[in-house]
Amino acid sequence: MSSRLIATQIVEQVIESKLPLTYALRHNESFKQAGNDKALIQEICYGTFRWYAQLEYILDQLLDKRIKKKDSRLKYLMIVGLYQLRFMRIPPHAVVSETVNTCKKIKMEWAKNLVNAILRRYIRETELFNPAVDNDDGLRTSHSKWIIEQLRRDWPKEWKSILEANNQHPPMYLRVNELRQSREQYLIKMKQAGIAGQITPYSKQGILLEKPTDVEQLPGFNKGEVSVQELAAQLSVELLDLKPEQTVLDACAAPGGKSSHILESQAKIKSLTVIEKDPNRAKRLSETLIRLGLHAITKVSDINDIDHWWNKEPFDRILLDAPCSATGVIRRHPDIKILRTPEDVKAINSLQMQLLTTLWQTLKPKGLLVYVTCSIFKKENSDLIKIFIDKNTDCVLKPIEAEWGKDTGYGKQILTGQNNMDGFFYACLEKI
Ligand SMILES: C[S@@+](CC[C@H](N)C(=O)[O-])C[C@H]1O[C@@H](n2cnc3c(N)ncnc32)[C@H](O)[C@@H]1O
Repeated sequence: MSSRLIATQIVEQVIESKLPLTYALRHNESFKQAGNDKALIQEICYGTFRWYAQLEYILDQLLDKRIKKKDSRLKYLMIVGLYQLRFMRIPPHAVVSETVNTCKKIKMEWAKNLVNAILRRYIRETELFNPAVDNDDGLRTSHSKWIIEQLRRDWPKEWKSILEANNQHPPMYLRVNELRQSREQYLIKMKQAGIAGQITPYSKQGILLEKPTDVEQLPGFNKGEVSVQELAAQLSVELLDLKPEQTVLDACAAPGGKSSHILESQAKIKSLTVIEKDPNRAKRLSETLIRLGLHAITKVSDINDIDHWWNKEPFDRILLDAPCSATGVIRRHPDIKILRTPEDVKAINSLQMQLLTTLWQTLKPKGLLVYVTCSIFKKENSDLIKIFIDKNTDCVLKPIEAEWGKDTGYGKQILTGQNNMDGFFYACLEKI
């Protein structure tokens, strides 16, 4: 199957079924069998979402009439074509002929002349669109108005640099499993395998790769010597201040990036309980633990269904890596720009408060709960923590002594792109 056809189908599936791009790629049989074309398909899909709002605007300017809803696949095909013309170094005639030929494959042969005319007109008139695009923050950076407004309100000084950072290609970070070897030893193995990288600041286990690499090429990956994990995500576990013999809960645990980090960081904890609501994601969590040779007590359950998973023994430490808008990881998941809505954020926000309230009962006196999100919206982060502390007199904020991030007064925030990291928020809450 042709790369353009697969990319168009994936873009359509993500938008029409509101599926995350990573999920759509993982479950698309044609993509899985695409061999050497996988990288091209991936680049087209990610790039199309990164620039979707801008490309859609340009397409609207090029069309005399809007594409009918029932023909929306044609719209996605043209947007995929425009992405290649505007952002990739593929000869324009090749993009036009591949895109026109794909009309037949999507059973829209009748649209060949239209697609040909639109793409050729774009090639002739490229420059005409630039002033309108450059003069509008939403079009220039390809973000919807509501995201820009929220960021402008939350981060009046930084919102522009956040928008720019959201469109950068993210770096790839590794976390070395120190139960197996030191970071320095692993770097030597990488060098022997011809993979360049350097140690990161802030995380003692972190390595920044010079360029993204297939995990299968990483020495010892399948044997659990290393994991792929964003640097900002690696900062959560140290905040737990883990000690031997503690009972630890990782609520919202799949796919297990932080659960495995907990077990690698303090091998002498008494137990780690992990909870995940989604059975498919819980399966991925188990696979992560198996690959790394680690063990946790796994519960597939909704946290709010507390009688289902809690035996009334309180925990010393709780990590709540809460479901969130994921607005801090847009550079890794650009489809969030298209899929997320203000209504979603509202619903997620009340779920966050519910989860925090439920979990608070399961924390021992003098225990510590670390609340983490990969969001950069204040309402999911510092605002929520303030409300929680004001309501719960047995809760105090423990200051985070770290070189990274911005102190919000109610936790630390890393804004997307700061020190080359994703946008993350952390608050440490102690029970008195
Ligand atoms: C941010 S992700 C966790 C990432 C994970 N901590 C890691 O580092 O790999 C949030 C997870 O919470 C799960 N989740 C959402 N609502 C939940 C609930 N009510 N109870 C349990 N898990 C939930 C989601 O399915 C998702 O897997």
